[in-house]
Amino acid sequence: MEVIILADAGEIAGIAADAIGALLGRNPTAVLGLATGSSPLAIYDELALRCEAGTISFRQARGFTLDEYVGLPADHPQRYRTVIDEVFVSRVDFVPGAVEGPDGLAADIPAACAAYESAIQAAGGVDLQILGIGTDGHIGFNEPGSSLASRTRIKTLTRQTRVDNARFFDGDLDAVPTHCLTQGLGTIMAARHIILVATGRSKAEAVHQLVEGPVSALWPATVLQHHPHVTVLLDDAAARRLQLVDYYRETYRSKPKWQGI
Ligand code: GLP
Repeated sequence: MEVIILADAGEIAGIAADAIGALLGRNPTAVLGLATGSSPLAIYDELALRCEAGTISFRQARGFTLDEYVGLPADHPQRYRTVIDEVFVSRVDFVPGAVEGPDGLAADIPAACAAYESAIQAAGGVDLQILGIGTDGHIGFNEPGSSLASRTRIKTLTRQTRVDNARFFDGDLDAVPTHCLTQGLGTIMAARHIILVATGRSKAEAVHQLVEGPVSALWPATVLQHHPHVTVLLDDAAARRLQLVDYYRETYRSKPKWQGI
């Protein structure tokens, strides 16, 4: 796991966008894993700028989102399909239908989850997954207690996650759905490269557990310690609880400049 501590979200976005650009340069048909939440927004802004400038193209690429609320009406602004379209997909040159997400309105939820797993596999799997992290250590919506081998399924959201996300529902906790569909931890682990982004003090404990804690379903993100290619991009505030912070800084400072993430 490579831990990189940067000045701010802008610097984080530049490094993540460089990695995505390099991937699409090598493989224009790459499959991207897309996360919602506030953490990746600066990355999407940077990618939109680069696409507008003609230095990156998603024309042949595909994307799969991580998760979706169950039961939000199709026209609800917080439906993740709508959100990802607004913050990223519609701002770059994906062809229509190139980005898919789990169907939170499916009548048959288990069938929709199985179909989503099949769609990811049929696309050849995810080449690069962008991730945020919840304050309780969830990735996607894999809440504490999630099986480390789980696949796409329905989950009950914790009260903590609903409180955290109430800000997207005008602060109204009751308006936040109680259930979601999420790629499982096993699904996420199958991505070939994972870039996890965390900023701000509220993420510091989850980041400490992710990087330095024991692998445990209590902090689901810790499963990433078993992945061979994870890059964790942090600002100072999110890195403040890390025990080996000086070592991570030194490692990045001394990294050869030609080497990407
Ligand atoms: C949300 C999403 C996650 C996201 C996380 C952190 O509930 N399901 O994919 O990474 O919680 O969100 P944020 O980046 O807004 O802090």
